[in-house]
Amino acid sequence: MDNVTARVAAQYTAYSYPEAFADLDVRMKAGHVDFGDPAYFGPMFWPEGRSTPPRILVAGCGTVQASVIAYSNPDSQVVGIDISDASLGHQRYLRETFGLKNLELYQGDLRDVGKIGGTFDLIVSTGVLHHMADPASGLSALKSVLSPDGAMFIMLYASIGRAGVYLVQDALRRMGVSQTPEDVAFVRALLDKLPPGHPVQWYRSCATDLSYDAGIVDTFLHPQDRAYDVSQIMDWVKGVGLGFQSWMENARYEPYAHLPDIASRLEALPDEDRWAAVEALLGTAMRHMFILRHPDRVHRVSFEGDDYLAYRPRAFPDASVGVQDGQRLIIRGSAGFPVSEAETLVFPWCDGSRTIAAMEADPVLAGYDPAERRAFLKEHFQRMWRVGLMMFQR
Ligand SMILES: C[S@@+](CC[C@H](N)C(=O)[O-])C[C@H]1O[C@@H](n2cnc3c(N)ncnc32)[C@H](O)[C@@H]1O
Repeated sequence: MDNVTARVAAQYTAYSYPEAFADLDVRMKAGHVDFGDPAYFGPMFWPEGRSTPPRILVAGCGTVQASVIAYSNPDSQVVGIDISDASLGHQRYLRETFGLKNLELYQGDLRDVGKIGGTFDLIVSTGVLHHMADPASGLSALKSVLSPDGAMFIMLYASIGRAGVYLVQDALRRMGVSQTPEDVAFVRALLDKLPPGHPVQWYRSCATDLSYDAGIVDTFLHPQDRAYDVSQIMDWVKGVGLGFQSWMENARYEPYAHLPDIASRLEALPDEDRWAAVEALLGTAMRHMFILRHPDRVHRVSFEGDDYLAYRPRAFPDASVGVQDGQRLIIRGSAGFPVSEAETLVFPWCDGSRTIAAMEADPVLAGYDPAERRAFLKEHFQRMWRVGLMMFQR
């Protein structure tokens, strides 16, 4: 094992990540959703249409992720690999306690994933590759076991929103602050004393993992950590010979959700420039989540031509309809997007079972003339895609 990997393994042995939970039933019923989970996000991975992926790899699965995905995908075979046996220990506990017969666990470096044998229809790697000395070698290893029709879900750190984290990391390194419990307590106390204008304070206000020690260590005391902007991700993906399919959260890369007034200045730009410009103008990205395929299997959601009529829209699992100050909204997280009454009528149909063509024929829309109906549905669903509220699958 090389020196960097040994240090990373030692960290995740001492500080398993994320903070584990013991009751999978309770947690899942309370609405725990993993962005790499095909039970919730299948259309994002295979817009061209696909049912259950037979084999799923969770690369760098940590304490819970492989178990969560095995739990919600009982008809898939799920394989978790992690370099930390301490983290896998909790996954073994979950597997035994909740009877996850479809879960296999391996300890090792994900670069050796080829030794497991076979290929995978979905590969999920959340917050792992940026901890490798050579992340491209990790991505190449994952590509070598991706089935021809397979999809990969990747999460990498984003440099812009983590700028404050790197300032603090640099200072801690110079001060010789280590991963001992005393030093972790020191970091916690230090963060509270930094000025309110320090960029790390904004990061802390959004981060969800700083309440426990493994989160403090993972964020501020990691021996190997790098972050990316949009252009670096595109270069990295091309360099490994994979194709970029889409972001998981379009609202962070397209101007329509948060920069609607300047959308017309941005929409003519090539994809990569538009995404990079929006990322720079929003200035808040802490992570990037995206989907990769083999280049000849990339399927982009498109509303050009009439093919979109065959899409079956499915709302993101946490999206809902609400009303605020008399304005109808579709709400996701802390953001609410204004919609018309007709758009709220369509929303309950978006569970992945009906095509847009079938919606067009629904008597509820009979009051509109046919041409208006089609134009309305096209505009509505294109907007829902661009603001990251809806997925589409044939
Ligand atoms: C930040 S944690 C993320 C855990 C999990 N993916 C999640 O989102 O809950 C990173 C995980 O990747 C594992 N890891 C890091 N480098 C690895 C490598 N080269 N091979 C396999 N696992 C690795 C660590 O042990 C750790 O469990």
